[in-house]
Amino acid sequence: MSYINRVPVELGKRSYDILVGIGLLQQAGEELLPILRQPRVAIITDDNVAPLYLETLETSLSAAGINHSHTILPHGEQTKDFTCLQRLVEQLLKNKMERGTALIALGGGVIGDITGFAASIVLRGIDFIQVPTTLLSQVDSSVGGKTGINSPHGKNLIGSFYQPRLVLADIGTLDTLPQRELLAGYAETVKYGLINDSDFFAWLEEQGPALCKGDQALRQEVVVRSCRAKAVIVATDEREVGARALLNLGHTFAHALEAETGYGDSLIHGEAVAIGIKLAFDLSSHLKLCPKQECERVAHHFETVGLPTKLREIAGPDWTPQTLVNHMTRDKKVRNEKITFVLTNGIGKAFLTSDVSMDALESTLQDALSQ
Ligand SMILES: NC(=O)c1ccc[n+]([C@@H]2O[C@H](COP(=O)([O-])OP(=O)(O)OC[C@H]3O[C@@H](n4cnc5c(N)ncnc54)[C@H](O)[C@@H]3O)[C@@H](O)[C@H]2O)c1
Ligand SMILES: [Zn+2]
Repeated sequence: MSYINRVPVELGKRSYDILVGIGLLQQAGEELLPILRQPRVAIITDDNVAPLYLETLETSLSAAGINHSHTILPHGEQTKDFTCLQRLVEQLLKNKMERGTALIALGGGVIGDITGFAASIVLRGIDFIQVPTTLLSQVDSSVGGKTGINSPHGKNLIGSFYQPRLVLADIGTLDTLPQRELLAGYAETVKYGLINDSDFFAWLEEQGPALCKGDQALRQEVVVRSCRAKAVIVATDEREVGARALLNLGHTFAHALEAETGYGDSLIHGEAVAIGIKLAFDLSSHLKLCPKQECERVAHHFETVGLPTKLREIAGPDWTPQTLVNHMTRDKKVRNEKITFVLTNGIGKAFLTSDVSMDALESTLQDALSQ
């Protein structure tokens, strides 16, 4: 067993720890026992993750004397819907779960989001634990308590703020993650450097390539640094009335790209985030808020590790700035018809603004579509 890092998330009575280490799954039972109300859990996972990690987790729970059951959902974004949620909740109730039973989300962000939401509504709220197994879920979605499912009207429109009791991030699980998924998660870690930590971004420029290729010690360090960054922001603004919105850097664009490509395999979330971040830098540069060299430095880093940065890599022949703008004005971050953007004065200097003209936005998108 390697060294375990403990990152606290300070939220008063709802505070919890994120544990990060290699091989943590094997000692999950020991770590969980002190925080469980009863030695009884229900594991929720998906059909990709179950054959890889369910047995290891269950063995560890049994060794600690923790009673367990499991539910295996289909993998993929489609699982985050009402039909699946209903099935999950009904199955939990059928298994006679009690207020003291905790749910364990074993998987990526999809499993974390639906399990957290189920935990927040079943029996008016029971405890849940995140065991994230993708880089994206280890550095982002398992931390901070946003839970939910999708609606035909848009992604993540139904949900709750509901914090886990503990997050166990086992770096070893990343070894089986497809490289494309790993890189998608990496885009979200770069985001933290770009928001307010230029030293972290410089560190990623040096270490990112080795980390993406598989260096476990670097992966542990990146998860710890990312969780610390997110924990600070979440502790200051749990419900996203202010600073937490900075975490949406690149996301207003990313969500429009995902909506236009139909949330399919042609563009996964982290890839959309990489392109979206580049567009946020381009727009900032267009508005003379950020030096052009900074845009190029960011794009260069994404390209070095193998992430896309150009709209041309995904755009269809009929894409226009207007189609993307239409998606943006439908995003849930729109207030009083004004789109809130995260713009930047340079690497590590992001800020929020609703003061962006349609002309500037459309011409940035037009330039990006022609590059
Ligand atoms: N709650 C939040 O704050 C928040 C933040 C960001 C994203 N999200 C949500 O997270 C979801 C995306 O999460 P994700 O990228 O983890 O996707 P995911 O959960 O769909 O996982 C990606 C794929 O990898 C597979 N997988 C998971 N772990 C594996 C492993 N160790 N080895 C091999 N395969 C593995 C999964 O079965 C799936 O096919 C989206 O629904 C997004 O809305 C939520
Ligand atoms: Zn994201």
